[in-house]
Amino acid sequence: MRQHVNPLSSNFNQIEKIPSLNEMFGDSKSNLHLDIGCAAGEFLFDLALVNTSWNYLGIEIREKLVKNAKLKVFKKEIKNLYFLFGNANNILNDFQSKFIIKNLKSLSFNFPDPWFKKRHHKRRVIQPEFINILSNSLQKGTLIFVKTDVKDLFDYMDHTITSNFYFKTIDKKDFNYSESFNPNKVKTNREKYVIDNQLDIFEKIYIKN
Ligand SMILES: C[S@@+](CC[C@H](N)C(=O)[O-])C[C@H]1O[C@@H](n2cnc3c(N)ncnc32)[C@H](O)[C@@H]1O
Repeated sequence: MRQHVNPLSSNFNQIEKIPSLNEMFGDSKSNLHLDIGCAAGEFLFDLALVNTSWNYLGIEIREKLVKNAKLKVFKKEIKNLYFLFGNANNILNDFQSKFIIKNLKSLSFNFPDPWFKKRHHKRRVIQPEFINILSNSLQKGTLIFVKTDVKDLFDYMDHTITSNFYFKTIDKKDFNYSESFNPNKVKTNREKYVIDNQLDIFEKIYIKN
């Protein structure tokens, strides 16, 4: 399976029809968390099976991973987990998905692709325009969780988010995980690899004011 796809390819201009929250979830009123770049979704399966009072939505640009994840949700009859295929920037910029952004309690960017070369930085998922879209539509108090093992990418993401007037950093030591989308601090696949290899993790939580 391809590890990297170019999100700016015209293949991703067209987005799939976005179902309503009622079509995605058994209880559309539960708190909603969105994980951007969720790969095969193992992290979200781990969360959804334990925290049944939250709804989890994953967006992933590799179609095969999304197809397999959707099949697994169907077979296991999980009612609080849904996956969308496509470039998260295009999906969340589409008028169809305004209701998703409005209903989010939190969203996470876990170990996004770093696109190391400068000429590829525009392929990074966090872009100033994207953060603007989020700041225009997220409810006050919505949280953004960012994690990476690449310092340069972390600095870039932190600068991009904090350059937007509406986002402020939350001090991690004051943060009560037990009420968040991830009360048991479940780890993503990349995070497990990073910990096993004793690499650094750079992370921050932001709140929409
Ligand atoms: C390095 S992997 C991290 C996967 C997972 N979050 C983890 O922590 O293990 C980054 C993922 O983001 C996906 N991705 C990259 N750009 C994306 C975009 N614009 N929209 C949606 N998914 C994207 C990639 O296909 C890949 O699965």
